Amino acid sequence: MDSMDDLAEDGPGRRLFSPAAQRNRQPILEILRPLLPERGRVLEIASGSGEHGVHFAAALPSLHWQPSDTSDEALASIAAWRETAKLANLDAPLRLDVTQPWPKVDDLVAVVCINMLHISPWAASEALFSGAARALPEDGVLVVYGPFRRHGGHTAPSNARFDEDLRGRNPRWGIRELEAVDALAAEHGLALEAVHEMPANNLCLVWRR
Ligand SMILES: C[S@@+](CC[C@H](N)C(=O)[O-])C[C@H]1O[C@@H](n2cnc3c(N)ncnc32)[C@H](O)[C@@H]1O
Repeated sequence: MDSMDDLAEDGPGRRLFSPAAQRNRQPILEILRPLLPERGRVLEIASGSGEHGVHFAAALPSLHWQPSDTSDEALASIAAWRETAKLANLDAPLRLDVTQPWPKVDDLVAVVCINMLHISPWAASEALFSGAARALPEDGVLVVYGPFRRHGGHTAPSNARFDEDLRGRNPRWGIRELEAVDALAAEHGLALEAVHEMPANNLCLVWRR
């Protein structure tokens, strides 16, 4: 697992720095690069600091990257990173809470959500899958990254400790069961296409509509 708990910032409401995002952005990019179509717009849910969007937009210049989040602090950080990066294909952040109606995103080809499911109530997982299924065109992909339980257990002792810590902070949070999440996806017509094992006991999951 990795987390945003060790976030630092360079001024009030400015850029947040997530060491976890710095570590996992390249492995995630290596999954995204062969998967994403050449053109179109990728909607990133729960962008957090905004560092992933800068990295992915720079590496995938023929795609448009649309970051989003629900928190004011995250939106300010994403905007500040975007201002610094000056990338023509990195859109201004959208305020998007998955549990509320989603704003329309033009030319959408994929939805990417990194490290949100375990740090939000189960209702947010439900809303991610229903919202992505509604927003994506046929053949569009949903990519979800984070720690998951599999076959009724944790994949590593460090994930079990992280899960306990999360549940202590908020009883509605916690590491989700891959099988339960996939059942949710199937309810919304999304088929699990790949399960990638990632560094630090995370998974990168790919569903296709
Ligand atoms: C652990 S951070 C991950 C941020 C970033 N994706 C990363 O990996 O560095 C979780 C993020 O989920 C966002 N989030 C929580 N609930 C949400 C919701 N209902 N809709 C959209 N974003 C949400 C938070 O604001 C926060 O930015």
